Amino acid sequence: MCGIVGYIGFEDVKEIILGGLEKLEYRGYDSAGIAIANNNNVYVCKEKGRIKDLRGCLDVNVTGTLGIGHTRWATHGVPNKINSHPHQSCTKRFTLVHNGIIENENELREKFLKDIEFTSDTDTEVIVQLIEKFVSEGEEVELAIRHTMSELEGSYALAILDKEDMNTLYAAKNKTPLLAGKGEGFNMIGSDAMAMINYTNNFYEIEDKEFLKITKEKIEIFTIYGNKVTRDTYTADIDASDTEKGTYPHYMMKEIEEQPFVIRKIISEYSDENGDLFVEPEIVENVKACDKLYIIACGTSYHAGLIGKQFFEKIAGKPTEVVIASEFIYNMPLLTEKPLFLFISQSGETADCRAVLVKVKQMGFKTLTLTNVKGSTLSRESDNTLLLYAGPEIAVASTKAYTAQIAVLSILAAKVNNKINIDIFKELGKIAYTMETLCDDKDNYKELAEKFLVKSRNCFYIGRSMDYFVCLEASLKLKEISYIQTEGFAAGELKHGTIALIEHDTPVIAVITQESINLNTRSNIKEVKARGAATMVISLKKLSNETDDIVIDDVNELLSPLAAIIPAQYLAYYAALLKGCDIDKPRNLAKSVTVE
Ligand code: G6P
Repeated sequence: MCGIVGYIGFEDVKEIILGGLEKLEYRGYDSAGIAIANNNNVYVCKEKGRIKDLRGCLDVNVTGTLGIGHTRWATHGVPNKINSHPHQSCTKRFTLVHNGIIENENELREKFLKDIEFTSDTDTEVIVQLIEKFVSEGEEVELAIRHTMSELEGSYALAILDKEDMNTLYAAKNKTPLLAGKGEGFNMIGSDAMAMINYTNNFYEIEDKEFLKITKEKIEIFTIYGNKVTRDTYTADIDASDTEKGTYPHYMMKEIEEQPFVIRKIISEYSDENGDLFVEPEIVENVKACDKLYIIACGTSYHAGLIGKQFFEKIAGKPTEVVIASEFIYNMPLLTEKPLFLFISQSGETADCRAVLVKVKQMGFKTLTLTNVKGSTLSRESDNTLLLYAGPEIAVASTKAYTAQIAVLSILAAKVNNKINIDIFKELGKIAYTMETLCDDKDNYKELAEKFLVKSRNCFYIGRSMDYFVCLEASLKLKEISYIQTEGFAAGELKHGTIALIEHDTPVIAVITQESINLNTRSNIKEVKARGAATMVISLKKLSNETDDIVIDDVNELLSPLAAIIPAQYLAYYAALLKGCDIDKPRNLAKSVTVE
């Protein structure tokens, strides 16, 4: 997590850096800072809180055409002004921002920096002090940075200023994202393309353990050993307007309402020139050839994986296991002989997934990544990639990426198709239309959120079969942005213990989209109602009762999670809105989690 951005060129950097940091706030937002090279000096300003707080304390009279900035999600040291980046070396010659974690910071302090008085509690300060130390021992700056890189264990994306050379911006990367943006008379670096897209759409990917020397005229990439690397630039598939809220009050609302469009985009991206289903043949072959599919993911992507399993088993006839990435690494299931690993990750950067990817690659297994970000770490490092085409998702709570993941998984399963034939494009088309109808009913969701959720401390989503998986995601949405403690529960399991938690007016939201479980889930609703719960029902039209609160037009039952999640996303949104929570940036969270 944490976002970094840097610029060297001809314009005043303040707005370029601050604007870039605002685009990166999804990566962390507990403190922020900026450094500007100004008249042979480096001006540093940092503040606890958001970029808007940083803006508030910035000296508007400071100008400069070289600068670096940082937005933080604290790992080492509490979020306060001192621990915020940038950090400076003891003589203040070097100024640095860092995204990542240095695992051997204590050894490095002990080995090289015993005499240094540290000012912060961060691992980052070790890096900047090491550079200064190696320079003070006679190394050239470039060598000192590469030497420092060779001593570091862990992950880093670094941007570095040297007070004695105001014409160069240095950068380095290992296991955490960094791109360089090439401009006309200027150059940039950033944690992602969105931070730079207002200025350039011409990027260099940076590989692990690479070092960059950047002037306003050129970007030079070197290996850690100092060998020059030549690489072509690429353009990112986003434009500046994709990253704006437009007339929407929050990114989350915008992204919820983009979902029908995203489903249609996915249909078109996965069609051939005749409008038939197209998935890269190698991917289809790999799925067909494996004896079991292992889906590895975290958070919302894990929930999409649970639904994907249903598609692979029911449509493609392929045994599938879904494992939380951070669990897999320490508690690996007994693997089959010819597994295929499918990583689902909106960002393509999640460290827990990457750890599994590295491990299974070492074991010689085939890998596939389903991601929203072309060129992301997981995408680059796995054998094949399937893209989500959801456009940038900026709200921390994932919405359109989740439905895009499910839609692409259904397409892949339908392409492999060993068991049942499904006209997947027709069914997804119906889903897109149904999503639109559901979005039109948002006033109803707002009323329901006000009536059932706003005053509650806790809540349950209950469902069976596919509906249970929807409940897991629905409850994650509600808890992460409204802070109402919510559990997604298998409706039939409630009576085996958890029903003890039902009190007068505890909200219980039931999801019913599967014919086979309709009556059973309805019995469970009666059970909680009899114990005082305030119940709400989201159901498919053909299964609905007159009193159900949200009725979804009939869609294919296998794909119904794509529709059923829409009202749940709105319920979370409105509960958070009515409680006055920060919808797009909920407390303690970050969208891209690049630490294990
Ligand atoms: C973080 C986010 C979640 C997300 C999870 C996995 O925890 O807050 O919303 O689902 O990471 O992210 P990924 O990018 O791998 O899908």
